[in-house]
This record gives sequence, C-alpha cells and structure tokens, in this order.
Amino acid sequence: ILPTSKCLFSNFTFLCFFSAVNYDFVQIVDQKYFVSNKHRGSFSEAVVFCNQRGLELALPQNAEENNALTQVHGKFRAKAWINVNNKKAEGEFKTDMKNRPLTFKNWGEGQPDKSIEDTGCTMLSENGSWQVTHECSLNVHIVCQL
Ligand SMILES: *[C@@H]1O[C@H](CO)[C@@H](O)[C@H](O)[C@H]1NC(C)=O
Repeated sequence: ILPTSKCLFSNFTFLCFFSAVNYDFVQIVDQKYFVSNKHRGSFSEAVVFCNQRGLELALPQNAEENNALTQVHGKFRAKAWINVNNKKAEGEFKTDMKNRPLTFKNWGEGQPDKSIEDTGCTMLSENGSWQVTHECSLNVHIVCQL
C-alpha cells in the first residue's frame, strides 16, 4: 500500500493508479484519486477504513474535486463523509483531521451549524454542499483519497 500523500507529489502517478485499482470504485480528478468499496458506515468507521489502508478520508480541494466526489458512485449521487475536523479546540470546521487548514470549502446555507459545536460530523450532500450533522453514526458512503 502506498502512503497517501505521495500521489499528490512527483512521479508516483503510476503507483497511485496501481494502488487505486484495488478498490471497487475509483474517480480520478487530475492527481487526486477518490476510491471506495461502496461501503457505508459511521464517520468513525470511515476514518478507520481509510487510515487502515494508509489513506485519508476524502476531502475535495476545489470545485472540480467536489463535483467528482458527488459522482463517486456513478449515476446516482450519494452523501459521503468528508475529512473536516469538528474539534472546537482545534479550529472547529476550519481544518482537516490532521489540522491542516481547509483550502476549499463548500458549506451549504447556514453551515457549519455552530449549534452543533464539537459533536458534529461533516458530509458532502448529494447536491455538493457541505453539511454538518449530529448523527455521526448515520450510514453514509465511505470514500477515501490518495
Ligand atoms: C443541498 O442539500 C442539503 C441537504 O440535503 C440541503 O439542506 C440544501 O438546501 C441543498 N441546497 C440546495 C442549493 O439545493
């Protein structure tokens, strides 16, 4: 398994492709690969699933990637968990789970919902907008990136 961040740098494109073919579903946007086994699960299951494979939970970093992620399961659009940090102490909804600042955001109206404080999890909804939900145990599609 290839360490995730390698795909965004330098000459690992072929290896990334090779790594991505192990998944049931792959969506490629420039250098970014979204991969999925079409499983659904809770937010924490999603984080574990990706981490166990040396990957990270998907996080669109531009409009094109955001759109691609809504289409990751083909024709029908589906919700997917995304890698946004909800911990208040760590810059609530402004960084990813590794505390790197979000460079792209696509929050829906009224989002991120401040009333949820640091108990919510973030998903990409079918229409591409980002939504925070209290229900981190919802069965939402698990998509990783490499
Ligand atoms: C997108 O979907 C979310 C969640 O279903 C909804 O709250 C929001 O109003 C929708 N936005 C648009 C522009 O349709």
